[in-house]
Amino acid sequence: MDRYCVFGNPIGHSKSPLIHRLFAEQTGQALSYEALLAPLDDFAGFARGFFAEGLGGNVTVPFKEQAFQLADQLSARAQRAGAVNTLKKLADGRLLGDNTDGAGLLRDLAVNAGFSLSGKRILLLGAGGAVRGVLEPFLGERPKALVVANRSVAKAEALAAEFADLGPIMASGFDWLDAPVDLIVNGTSASLTGEVPPIAASLIEPGHTLCYDMMYSRQPTAFCQWAVEHGARAALDGLGMLVEQAAEAFLLWRGVRPDSAPVLAELRRQLAAG
Ligand code: ATR
Repeated sequence: MDRYCVFGNPIGHSKSPLIHRLFAEQTGQALSYEALLAPLDDFAGFARGFFAEGLGGNVTVPFKEQAFQLADQLSARAQRAGAVNTLKKLADGRLLGDNTDGAGLLRDLAVNAGFSLSGKRILLLGAGGAVRGVLEPFLGERPKALVVANRSVAKAEALAAEFADLGPIMASGFDWLDAPVDLIVNGTSASLTGEVPPIAASLIEPGHTLCYDMMYSRQPTAFCQWAVEHGARAALDGLGMLVEQAAEAFLLWRGVRPDSAPVLAELRRQLAAG
């Protein structure tokens, strides 16, 4: 059986095995997919051991940068993201590193939410790995303006400088902004502690602005609640991005694009059931 996995630490609550099992059933692909707890002090050795037999792996917290180092070859988008979330063993045994997070978010926005970034005013909150991973695909859609706002402004400034060659990107603090935008994406980890980045409610144009939290939880995240309270057109969480980044990885491994909609619906059903 063709073997695939997700590496992480911790890994117990990963939804990737379920997602890829559903993709495999749906597309009639014979494969196994397991969640593997990689040791914090030897990700590379552990991953190499798996790839003696295994064909592909997803990579999650905290190993995305180490997977970037491990890969023998990198896709352009992984190179730019500085992180790898998908590894594929090539025919000659070398490891290709890719990053499907940004493409997954774009696809969730485009296909599931009907939102095109082209010509739009976009605000990205946060300046960590999650935001870095989506900057290249976002700028590739040619937004009118892309502002990266972060608690530590210096980190936003560094990102804006690094990606300035790709399009109109600017850095900001949270409290410097008040004019409405078309899309706000929360890429901070504030929702983990039930917090919302301190941005002005006037950034939301009621009935128009789309809000997106890269995090998800059983109850609407704090950011999604904030967005709904202030009249956002819609407040979406990151479950769609999770399924879409997995679909992009499945496509890279198997050459078949699964239909993500029924899988997202099943995950949503299971999340609601607890
Ligand atoms: P990830 O890989 O998930 O992006 P990270 O690299 O640790 O994780 O980045 C976390 C991001 O969330 C950072 O932008 C962080 O802001 P700082 O750079 O100022 O630390 C942001 N963040 C975390 N908790 C936050 C909070 N309570 N309010 C606002 N921003 C927060």
